[in-house]
Amino acid sequence: MAIREDLCKKIMKMFPSYPDPHDPNLWEVFKTKEYINGSEEERRKIRNSSSLASYEWENNNQISWLRKYFFPRISEETLQGKTLLDLGSYTGGRLIAWSKRYKLSKGFGIDINPIFRTASEEFAKSINISNVEFMTGEVERLPYESNSFDFIISTDVFEHVKDLEVVLSECYRVLKKGGTLCVAFPQYLQPLEAHIGMVTNAVALQWFFSSKTIASAYNKILEERGEDSYWYKPEAFPLRNWEKLFELNGTSIKDFKGLIKKQNWRSKNFKVKPIFTDGRKSDWLIFKILSKLIAPLAYLPFLNELFLGRINCILIK
Ligand SMILES: C[S@@+](CC[C@H](N)C(=O)[O-])C[C@H]1O[C@@H](n2cnc3c(N)ncnc32)[C@H](O)[C@@H]1O
Repeated sequence: MAIREDLCKKIMKMFPSYPDPHDPNLWEVFKTKEYINGSEEERRKIRNSSSLASYEWENNNQISWLRKYFFPRISEETLQGKTLLDLGSYTGGRLIAWSKRYKLSKGFGIDINPIFRTASEEFAKSINISNVEFMTGEVERLPYESNSFDFIISTDVFEHVKDLEVVLSECYRVLKKGGTLCVAFPQYLQPLEAHIGMVTNAVALQWFFSSKTIASAYNKILEERGEDSYWYKPEAFPLRNWEKLFELNGTSIKDFKGLIKKQNWRSKNFKVKPIFTDGRKSDWLIFKILSKLIAPLAYLPFLNELFLGRINCILIK
């Protein structure tokens, strides 16, 4: 174990990364000293820049996740006048952009972190959007009536929940009959999405090392970095019993397909998008070329666990 951990740590340190404490796309900015010890005005500014970043992202057709993942299987016209729940709505920018752009009758957002609700509500108010409502809560126990929503959208959240089967049942319960659940999230073996990017740019470590080894190596590096790294420490170390890696439940494509088979979804539509065609760095030329080379592998059973960009699925109740 010690030898493997040492090797894993060495590889991580060969490709070091250091997160920017002012990056509005990182939720960890809310754990920086600047946020925690800041004045109310300073905190409000940080919350606003987080909401604004995802609002602008969703207003940009080239990178909007709603468009990139789910259009044209759903369309602008079908969203108009509908209710939509954003599951894991973070600081609200995406949902607020969708509510305005697609003329939803109402957008609902839920997230576990109360700071995100404050950020979302402040941002909606600042740009005069009133057809949205945010709540703090766990997606495992949705505080909504059954048969409430026309659409549920969830991007990069399913990999973080404690019990995905329960979350899927909850989605089924709160959707109206004929309602649509749109989900995109990285499968555990997706080589770029092990959520260790705060410390290293090394990829695919989870192909070669156990989660325990990666977690220990990661933690040792944080210890070496000392106080400067406290703001991006994972929530728990050692890993909690539901975690495969920090805040990740370890769901594979096979696991996910198994879970939805157990439920009564009327129709399922999986989209195959190979690695490097989506995600935050997909516009880089090198990734565009690589994605073309790798594309056929994303269609093959088992190899898809390694080369699919994200699980991307539309389910109809
Ligand atoms: C990677 S972020 C994605 C945020 C947003 N959906 C997006 O695409 O930008 C994951 C979000 O899920 C939230 N989350 C994780 N587990 C949750 C749970 N059990 N219940 C509610 N929210 C949760 C986190 O607080 C965080 O805002």
